[in-house]
Amino acid sequence: MAKPKKRYVCQACGSVSHRWQGQCPDCAEWNTLAEDAPATVFSQKHDLSSGGRAVDFVALDAPGESLERRSIGLKELDRALGGGLVPGSAILMGGDPGIGKSTLLLQAAAKIAKGGDPVVYVSGEEATAQVRMRASRLGVADAPVKLAAATSVRDILTTLAGIGKPAMLVIDSIQTMHSDSIEGAPGTVGQVRGCAFELIRYAKENGVVLVLVGHVTKDGNIAGPRVLEHMVDVVMSFEGERSHQYRILRSLKNRFGPVDEIGVFAMAGQGLEEVSNPSMLFLSGRDEPLAGSAVFPALEGTRPVLVEVQALIVRLQSGATPRRAIVGWDSGRLAMLLAVLESRCGLNFSSAEVYLNIAGGYRLTDPAADLAVAAALVSALADKPLSAKSVWFGEVSLAGEIRPVAHSGLRLRESHKLGFDTGYGPSETQPGTRNSEQLEFHAIKQLVNLVDRIVGNQ
Ligand code: TYD
Ligand code: MG
Repeated sequence: MAKPKKRYVCQACGSVSHRWQGQCPDCAEWNTLAEDAPATVFSQKHDLSSGGRAVDFVALDAPGESLERRSIGLKELDRALGGGLVPGSAILMGGDPGIGKSTLLLQAAAKIAKGGDPVVYVSGEEATAQVRMRASRLGVADAPVKLAAATSVRDILTTLAGIGKPAMLVIDSIQTMHSDSIEGAPGTVGQVRGCAFELIRYAKENGVVLVLVGHVTKDGNIAGPRVLEHMVDVVMSFEGERSHQYRILRSLKNRFGPVDEIGVFAMAGQGLEEVSNPSMLFLSGRDEPLAGSAVFPALEGTRPVLVEVQALIVRLQSGATPRRAIVGWDSGRLAMLLAVLESRCGLNFSSAEVYLNIAGGYRLTDPAADLAVAAALVSALADKPLSAKSVWFGEVSLAGEIRPVAHSGLRLRESHKLGFDTGYGPSETQPGTRNSEQLEFHAIKQLVNLVDRIVGNQ
C-alpha cells in the first residue's frame, strides 16, 4: 500500500497543501502551514455498514421539547438574532478589534443576569479588574454575572459542572482558549476547532446558550478556520467605522431565523445605546442641494435605512494615474459602474480622481445602490446638484440598463414618510406602489437616461 502523503494545513484559513511552503497559497499569510495527520486511506476495514446501533427516527411534528426563544431585553440584539436566544444554541460573534463586542456582550449578560437567570462570562483576553471597570462604566456592576478570567477549557467546563449550568455562557474570545488534549498554541486551527467543539457539545447537552467571540482578520473573515462558522448555529458580525458612533450587528448565518435583519447601536459614553429608528441616521441633514450627493433608500431586512452617497471628482492636469478612493462601498463595483458610464454614456472619468463616501460610516451591501452611486458621480462630474428631496435606487447592468430590485414599494413609502418627494428607479417598479401616496416616481430605463436627466434638465 502506498504510504499516505504528508499534508500541511494552513493555521489561518485551513487550506491543505501537499508540501511545506512559507506562504499559504490560498490566504497569502506567511508561516502558517503546519504538518497535519495524513489523510486516511479508505479500505475494507473502514466499512461502516454493520456493527452499529440502530438510530431512532421521529416524525417532524412529534411532540417533545420545543425550542423556545428567550428575549434578552436589548431590542436591537433580539432583532438581529431573529427574536432572541434559543437554548442550546451556539453563537459566533465576529468583528474588528475595538468595535464593541465585549461591551455588547457584557451589556447582554448583565441584562439576562438581572432578569434572574445565571450567566457566566469568561474573559481570556482581559483581567477581571478590566472587565469590572467596564461594567461600572456601563452602569451594570450590580448585575449578578459570574465573571472569570480563564483560558483553559478543561478548567471552565470542570467549574461549570460544579456550579450548575448557566442560561448563557460567554467566551471572550475563542482564539484565547486552550485545550490540554490538543497540541499547539491557542489560536491555531486545531486548538480553536477543538475548544469550540468541546464548548458547543457542553452547550447542546445542557441547553446553555453559548456565545463565542471570534477575531476578524484583515480581510474581514473570522480568524482561524472557517470551519468554526459551520460548527455554530448563528454567526453574527459587528460592524462599523471605529471613528464613527454607529455600529451595525448583522447575522450572516442563523439556523433559527432570518439573516437579513440588523441591529443598530450607537457607541456612547455609557456603552452601546440602541437605535430603534435608524432610517435618518445616515443622512447629513442639510436642506440645500449639493453637487455629488444622492440619497439611497437602502433596505436592511425589513427595515429601510436612508443613506447619503457622496462623490467628488477632481480633474487632473498632469498625466498622473488618477486615484479612486472609496469608503463604505465595494471598489470592484465602483470600477464597473465607472466603466459602464464611460462606455455606454460617453462620460470621461479616466483623467479624473474619483472619491466616493457613504455618509456616517455606513457600509452599503445592497446592489440597488448602483443608481444612487451613478447619480452622485454624474452630478459631481457635471457639477449639477440633485434635488435634496429625491431618492435613487436600481441595479445597473453591464449593458447600462437599470434592473429591477426588491421591495421598491417599501423603499418609496419610507422615503415619502421621511419627507422626500421624488423617487427615481427601475421602470419595472410595481404599478400600485408607484405614484402611491403622492411621491412622484420617475422610471429610468437606461443609465444614459439618468445622465440626460441630470446633465440636461436639472
Ligand atoms: P470593546 O467592547 O472592548 O471592543 P472589542 O471587544 O470588540 O474589541 O470596545 C472598545 C471600544 O469601545 C473602546 O475603543 C472604547 C469604546 N467604548 C466607549 O466608547 N464607551 C463605553 O462605554 C465603552 C465600554 C467602550
Ligand atoms: Mg474585546
